[in-house]
Amino acid sequence: MRILVIGSGGREHALVWKLAQSKLTDKIFCSPGNGGIAGGAECIDIQADDIGQLLDFAVAEKIDLTVVGPEVPLALGIVDEFSSHKLRIFGPSRPASQLEASKVFSKELMAKYNVPTAHFEVFDDALQAEKYIERIGAPCVVKADGLAAGKGVVVAKTVEEAKQAVSSMIEDKIFGDAGSRVIVEECLEGQEASILVITDSKEVIALASSQDHKRIFDNDQGPNTGVMGAYSPAPLVTNSLFKDILERIVYRAIDGLAREGIEYRGVLYAGIMITKDGPKAMEFNVRFGDPETQVVLPRMTSDLLEVILAASEGKLSRIKRVGWAKEPCVCVVCSSKGYPGKYESGKEISGLKEAARMKDVAVFHSGTVQSTVHSPQSTAKYFTNGGRVLGVTGRGKTISEAIRRTYQATEKIRFEGMHYRKDIGKKAL
Ligand code: AMP
Ligand code: GLY
Repeated sequence: MRILVIGSGGREHALVWKLAQSKLTDKIFCSPGNGGIAGGAECIDIQADDIGQLLDFAVAEKIDLTVVGPEVPLALGIVDEFSSHKLRIFGPSRPASQLEASKVFSKELMAKYNVPTAHFEVFDDALQAEKYIERIGAPCVVKADGLAAGKGVVVAKTVEEAKQAVSSMIEDKIFGDAGSRVIVEECLEGQEASILVITDSKEVIALASSQDHKRIFDNDQGPNTGVMGAYSPAPLVTNSLFKDILERIVYRAIDGLAREGIEYRGVLYAGIMITKDGPKAMEFNVRFGDPETQVVLPRMTSDLLEVILAASEGKLSRIKRVGWAKEPCVCVVCSSKGYPGKYESGKEISGLKEAARMKDVAVFHSGTVQSTVHSPQSTAKYFTNGGRVLGVTGRGKTISEAIRRTYQATEKIRFEGMHYRKDIGKKAL
């Protein structure tokens, strides 16, 4: 099969890496891809949100299956567009993608279908929102309704901070229209877990559990980022808790959408807070997680392509079983100096080969470019080209072995200003 993967991050690198292992795969393209992805796929210079050009490319290149990484093309309706041209594509339709593209839609669906979640109110008027914040007090959480590249959630420790967040979203429009409506909600306490499933709306296949690390510094200090690491499985998600999350959160959301006339096909990602009153949904994403994908897929022993294909055709019942390696996986993200603020790029990266040569280690690229130096050896050089640069993933018999191996590999890699957290996976010990 000829496959097109859309996106340019570590998640897409892991997808390309896993799809390349399928016996059904003949060739993989990735648009736009990155320096590391170019090692396993032909990178095409089309941006992930340029649906017209992606469609033309898929037709011209006779693509058999398109796999969408990021949420933006999904929210723009790439699946609807490809499907109307009889092109096979894996991901939810535009109406189904509202689950991530509109937090108001998502919370209202949760309320209607009894999905446990934080108490909330919706506002389009800053004054009303501020009055509500005064009434409920701090801590509380303010969320922009629309897509805000992962920056639309403020967990406010004080009433002042929450009011400031509301005013910057509704009045100063820092997220444009995405913040013209906001949610103010109860602050949940507990540990977070990521539960990803593949579904065709009728059947659901749960992927292995995982947990991510959102803050830039060790011990969850400093600002939120596009995520600095992850591990799988999340030991706090016991079998009975996993079952509970599926039954009370995942199935209710998928069935609720179906009752609204919306069929969900694709990956559904539930961001869960395990509170003392049980699991509650904080958010739904309509795509694979990043870097959850980098720790979940290396543990999958089944053919991902077969599963994705079945789901995209609405025939997931064809898949009888998906296998998982017992060995835990850890992913440490290496970021550029300055990230998540303004960051540097163009720094040469060394040690990639030495790291990737290690047993049970894979180095997934998030933000790199490759340049081939035309010397007699013609070796490829890699340079940083993003806030998050690499995700080093290691597997081990135990979580401690996976942690040790991942950090051994990470220490072989160098670029100027490189930063990574030293405590990824510690919570699982
Ligand atoms: P979301 O995009 O809704 O998942 O929010 C991003 C992050 O904000 C989550 O992963 C949590 O760390 C935090 N968060 C979101 N909602 C809540 C909440 N109700 N209580 C506490 N933390 C939250
Ligand atoms: N790991 C967070 C996300 O993918 O949104």
